[in-house]
Amino acid sequence: MHGKLRVWKRELVRADLKGDEQLLDLGCGRGAVLIEAAGRLPAGRAVGVDLWSGKDQRGNRPEVTLANAAAAGVADRVEVQTADMTELPFADGSFDVVTSALAIHNIPLRERRYRAVDEGMRVLRPGGQLLVADFWPMTRQYADHLGQGTLRGLGPAYWYGGPRLGVTLLHAVKER
Ligand SMILES: C[S@@+](CC[C@H](N)C(=O)[O-])C[C@H]1O[C@@H](n2cnc3c(N)ncnc32)[C@H](O)[C@@H]1O
Repeated sequence: MHGKLRVWKRELVRADLKGDEQLLDLGCGRGAVLIEAAGRLPAGRAVGVDLWSGKDQRGNRPEVTLANAAAAGVADRVEVQTADMTELPFADGSFDVVTSALAIHNIPLRERRYRAVDEGMRVLRPGGQLLVADFWPMTRQYADHLGQGTLRGLGPAYWYGGPRLGVTLLHAVKER
């Protein structure tokens, strides 16, 4: 948990947020990344979508995420919605940044995982950034599917049981 947060703090700094962005977190769960991002958006908004699977994350419920946001003092900029990330209920171009932390791999079929990545890109404005942390080699597959994006290993802080399950960050920018 702490390793993951350290990594996301670094990646959000790298994303060079101005503080007024509209950010969407796909598969936000209890909100670790959503809330960290919201802390950097004093004039923006962080929206999390999830289907609240108790199998993928314990205690996974929207009210838990909202309570975590309140405890972190960012409840006013955090919103959660129950939605499937393969069919996002948002218009094209409605977000500046889309994040996803170890969530897309939970979708069983590859074609549906690609659908989630495509949906993330669809709801980004031109020039917006997609940041997806997921197990290697899935991130490679997402980048190949998109035909763009850079990949960066997130290092031991994000390992699950060793380097074999290393987590990589895909960073893609929507064409202007
Ligand atoms: C391992 S948890 C990660 C949660 C959070 N991103 C984090 O890093 O702590 C994966 C999350 O993805 C969600 N999820 C899985 N499939 C989904 C889908 N099709 N649409 C939205 N959320 C989904 C699960 O309910 C779960 O909350």
